[in-house]
Amino acid sequence: MSQQAILGIIGGSGLYHFEGLEDVQSVEVTTPFGKPSAPILLGSLEGTRVAFLARHGIGHHILPSEVNYRANIYALKQMGVRFVVGVSACGSLRHDYKPGNFVIPDQVIDFTRDRKRSFFGEGLVAHISTADPYCASLSRQLYEAALSTGVETHQGGTFITIEGPRFSTRAESHLFRAWGISIIGMTTCPEIFLAREAEMCYASLAHITDYDVWHLAEEPVNVEMVIRTLSQNTAAAQQAIRTLAARLDENTDCECSRALEKALITDPARIPP
Ligand code: ADE
Repeated sequence: MSQQAILGIIGGSGLYHFEGLEDVQSVEVTTPFGKPSAPILLGSLEGTRVAFLARHGIGHHILPSEVNYRANIYALKQMGVRFVVGVSACGSLRHDYKPGNFVIPDQVIDFTRDRKRSFFGEGLVAHISTADPYCASLSRQLYEAALSTGVETHQGGTFITIEGPRFSTRAESHLFRAWGISIIGMTTCPEIFLAREAEMCYASLAHITDYDVWHLAEEPVNVEMVIRTLSQNTAAAQQAIRTLAARLDENTDCECSRALEKALITDPARIPP
């Protein structure tokens, strides 16, 4: 594995390139799981080697269910990335998490049903722990960086990933609120679990674009609303990541890089015939 970058940024809706990335090289990568969503932009951000990948492809032509999450994570791992920040637009399920705010969530619920969600299988058996799916250290650093932009930023909250591409019904939205979930999106799972299987640290920078469909005084979410709020906030998201890159603490005491140590692995090569 060559060390071409240490920090991986997976850009969501509205984030297809990165302002301020220097000495940029666009790299076409292939993996055993196919091609990632787009060529990877390798460059230097505030002195840190960064790999930037547009999750939905350049120009946004890939649906959440169609993203090749395995190829995306594998490609970043191949480049030596240890820290991954997933940037995502999301809806809010709480009054106090408002459109325009950032959230650095600390839990996820996976409501997806039609995605390749593991690198394991076909004779290689492992069960990673996802009790705490986010890297606490990277999330704390990202929270401080997001806060420093001046945008109201919330530390913690549960992020549900739905399959999409449709938005939720009102009944679903009320159910998710009753379950105590804070924000809703379409891409964090299985990206976060694949990063853990690849023994990488993962944190989410979630941009609230709307109040989903539960809020009686607000119009139900639509794409125009999401894009309008995103375009107002993309510069702040990039600023947060620039600050994170400038201050990145690589000497974390987290266990992300040892995620497979306690996973049960059956390697077919080790099973006698
Ligand atoms: N992305 C942005 N807003 C969303 C919402 N309300 N539901 C799912 N994904 C979203």
